[in-house]
Amino acid sequence: MSKKVYIETYGCQMNVNDTEVIFSILADAGYARTGEMGEADVILANTCSIRDNAEQRIWGRIEVFATERRRRPGVVVGIVGCMAERLKDSLLDSRKVDLVAGPDAYRSLPALLAAITPDHPQINVLLSHEETYADIRPLRIDKNGVSAFISIMRGCNNVCSYCVVPYTRGAERSRDPRTIVREACDVFSRGYKEVTLLGQNVDSYFWKSPEGNVGFAQLLEQVARISPELRVRYSTSHPKDISDEVIETMGRYENICKCIHLPVQSGSDVMLEKMRRRYTRAWYLDRVRKIREVMPDCAITTDIIAGFCGETEQDHQDTLSIMREVGYDAAFMFAYSERPGTLAARHYPDDVPPEVKNRRLTEIIELQNVLSLESNRRDVGRTFRVLVEGPSKRSELELCGRTSSGKMCVFPAVAGVGVGDYVKVRVLDCSSATLRCEQV
Ligand code: 5AD
Ligand code: SF4
Repeated sequence: MSKKVYIETYGCQMNVNDTEVIFSILADAGYARTGEMGEADVILANTCSIRDNAEQRIWGRIEVFATERRRRPGVVVGIVGCMAERLKDSLLDSRKVDLVAGPDAYRSLPALLAAITPDHPQINVLLSHEETYADIRPLRIDKNGVSAFISIMRGCNNVCSYCVVPYTRGAERSRDPRTIVREACDVFSRGYKEVTLLGQNVDSYFWKSPEGNVGFAQLLEQVARISPELRVRYSTSHPKDISDEVIETMGRYENICKCIHLPVQSGSDVMLEKMRRRYTRAWYLDRVRKIREVMPDCAITTDIIAGFCGETEQDHQDTLSIMREVGYDAAFMFAYSERPGTLAARHYPDDVPPEVKNRRLTEIIELQNVLSLESNRRDVGRTFRVLVEGPSKRSELELCGRTSSGKMCVFPAVAGVGVGDYVKVRVLDCSSATLRCEQV
């Protein structure tokens, strides 16, 4: 009987996609996938190091896995992904882990698993300049079968001073566009209606080839041309790199979703400089102006860090004011968490007291709630084409799906309309999180 593997995934969408790659590699080696830890022969956690609380949560899970291993001798526990890369030594020293594999080592998982003995944990955390898993067909783990994620590049070359990613995921490399288009065609032919192209900084996607170089704008266009019925999303843009060409390409294709995730991090030039973001507030606002000029209805979402090193009350006010100026549709907001080894950890004291950080974060979250609500109120009375994702969270009698701008719509189910269909809805009412609609 084939061995069963269970994987918990933490962190970003890219990690979710990596888990799909791991399942595919292990399936080829004869492993079956299970959603039950209690019946697994191999328990893996695909981990995240972005903030300390992400890592603490995983240490907690490692305790749970260790208990399972004591209960059922022979079970193997492995830590893969960003934390594996960063904490290999302490993971192995804990003796609670039999396997440690970094983000570029997934092809070696079958060999590593085969070599594990109680006294010989296995490790591979080598980072690669080439690995993109281009030829691997990810084993989809999404629940709805409507929306698939496709990695177009790996690693990151922007050394933002707070960020651990360049250390955990290594240097940036782009994936052959032909394999990306092939994967998108493949999921579309299997009934998916939406693909999200993933990269740490999609704007620096670049594939050199004698038949012509492919940048992100061209890649986006190639994927959009697969079918007008296939929606295309992407994440993440970098404000310093997002080009007019990309913005204009988005404007030309109805099926490229009108939503840009453009992490600002801070509204203060002093902080942006210290964060090594390599743009200014004015530059950022000019990019927003360009987006709105080409696509007046494009949603803009962001990431914000509260309480970075040396942040003053004025810097914080600058963040609140840029939020109002842009009027973000949604945001992910975090308190700064010092990551060992990063430029910031080496050069700047983490000197904003926790209570100040948290108070600023709360102010940022409260403002975003107001902005999200205002953004949703502007949509009341309008009609949108939404892609049905499934029943709503609250009731089987309701369906939910997203607008092109990424907003979640909820509406009464009607006979003949189901998951993967496009429907037209009118917005009747809203909260800061959802649009309540009727079909028209
Ligand atoms: N502390 C807090 N937030 C961070 N992010 C990245 N590194 C840190 C850190 N050390 C946030 C950024 C990034 C998002 C993915 O996580 O806002 O855009
Ligand atoms: Fe994703 Fe960054 Fe977390 Fe790694 S550290 S899993 S790249 S969010």
